[in-house]
Amino acid sequence: MHLFDLDPKELPRQIKDGKVTLAIVGLGHVGLPLAVLLASKGAKVVGCELEGEYLNKLRKGVSPIVEHGSSRLGERVLDATCPTCGVRILHGGGDDFCPNCMKVAELKGAEVRLTGRSHRILGADSGNEMASLLSESLKAGRLSLTSDVSEAVTRSDVVIVCVGTPIDARKRPDLRALISAGNDIGRGLREGTLVILKSTVSPGTTEGVFAPILERRSGLKRGVGFGLAHVPETTLEGLALLGNRTLPKAVGGIDKRSSDLAAAVFRVFDVPVYTFRSPKITEAAKLFQNIYRDVNVALANELALATEALGLDITEVLEAARTEPKTHLLNPGPGVGGYCLPKDTYYLTDVAAAHGFKPRMLYMARDINERMPQHVVRLVKDAYAEAGIPVKGSVIAALGLSFKGNTADTRDTPSIPVIRRLAGLGMKVLLHDPLANPGTAVRGLKNVTFTKGLEDALGKADALVLLTDHLEYRKMTGRTLSELAPELKVVVDTRHIFDPVDMARLNYTYRGVGRAGVKRRVRRP
Ligand SMILES: NC(=O)c1ccc[n+]([C@@H]2O[C@H](COP(=O)([O-])OP(=O)(O)OC[C@H]3O[C@@H](n4cnc5c(N)ncnc54)[C@H](O)[C@@H]3O)[C@@H](O)[C@H]2O)c1
Repeated sequence: MHLFDLDPKELPRQIKDGKVTLAIVGLGHVGLPLAVLLASKGAKVVGCELEGEYLNKLRKGVSPIVEHGSSRLGERVLDATCPTCGVRILHGGGDDFCPNCMKVAELKGAEVRLTGRSHRILGADSGNEMASLLSESLKAGRLSLTSDVSEAVTRSDVVIVCVGTPIDARKRPDLRALISAGNDIGRGLREGTLVILKSTVSPGTTEGVFAPILERRSGLKRGVGFGLAHVPETTLEGLALLGNRTLPKAVGGIDKRSSDLAAAVFRVFDVPVYTFRSPKITEAAKLFQNIYRDVNVALANELALATEALGLDITEVLEAARTEPKTHLLNPGPGVGGYCLPKDTYYLTDVAAAHGFKPRMLYMARDINERMPQHVVRLVKDAYAEAGIPVKGSVIAALGLSFKGNTADTRDTPSIPVIRRLAGLGMKVLLHDPLANPGTAVRGLKNVTFTKGLEDALGKADALVLLTDHLEYRKMTGRTLSELAPELKVVVDTRHIFDPVDMARLNYTYRGVGRAGVKRRVRRP
């Protein structure tokens, strides 16, 4: 098929009828959900992935990536604004609570706008839907998998690029995967193909870096020989299936035809799709979205340090501040992790600096967030001093390795610097996580043992540091601790899961990020 001869309005139907072949290059956290969802819509999809071992697992229908979501069309999706903190909620996190401010009752009273499909409140308890979609689409023959990108591109009409765009050791954009993918795609590119870049990149990369590689390798001219657009990924990890089905898409094509065709591809999901004048706009917009969150977490962390100095409890102050509806403050924590937030801020500082502008606030936000793990260790040491127990040789349970709750992703997790520092102080760290695989993240770390069960981590622990707000941990109370951790004396809570009054009643020395006010209430006999 020559896409350029097709009316874009026809494209969603043609895709659903399996008449258009789509190659997805890079089957990671972004590419795999997109590939299986397109296939579940009836599309003919070729998934391209270079990691051999990973590809073999996918071929067997095993998804190393855990993704929940609205399991089937025909269900409604909760889409509400939390009346307490104003954050948009796309799910109930497995329970009826706002995943930002954790208010339960208020959310129940929220005005819920339904997308017309779901009703079940979806979240961590809804199972790994990715695995079932993967094996279904492989069995139905709608999804095929290959490591030969050029060959896959030759037989495709649309190529969607979802390769990683990390930062290097100097915190500068590392575009090696994108450049290599561009070379492979260019070698296979046929006339009339639409290439869509989904990876997050700095403004100017689609047209200034990616397009020239495609042109050089294929001998085709952008806009004439092939179409090109940037469509940033907006889904959240752990909710990527739900996000693909419900979130609006922003499309920045190099020309009108590229924009219209790329917009039509995403209309397969019945979501609002908006087109913009150039890829530079959507490239910058994607960075803005993540910077907005990074800076706002830095603000919450800075305010947490302030409340500790002032002898206040940040959770109480936030509750009071959020009574004013325009105040959308986020919660503080042990730092910012994950693949996107930390590096995307650096993507903008890098390109801005190259253009002669140093965005001071962004550097400062990064600095505040990167120092939070150190602060958590300071809280641990402080609590040990108050409890009168020596740090060296003590046993500490570290709960949570993933960078955020209900995901198995440990990339750039703040848990690692915390654990490394605790182990460096001579503590024996018993690490637990219900979802994450310790893999290489903790390999070679002296004094750190990964435990399978929560009771194994807590059974002999003198102290507990809670690092990730997994649902399993959110359900814990003081009672859980007294039952599972008979030796426990110190609790350091970076996610405000435990009730300080409860902790005091149980005679634990308690510290929470931003909760110095609690210090006075907690007294050991
Ligand atoms: N993870 C998220 O939630 C998220 C959200 C928004 C945006 N993004 C952006 O999306 C992009 C992809 O992120 P991700 O989390 O999916 O990364 P990932 O590392 O999970 O996946 C990338 C995959 O691409 C494969 N790959 C690399 N080079 C390849 C090539 N030449 N040919 C075929 N496969 C190749 C890798 O082996 C890997 O499996 C990044 O730019 C990221 O910033 C990610």
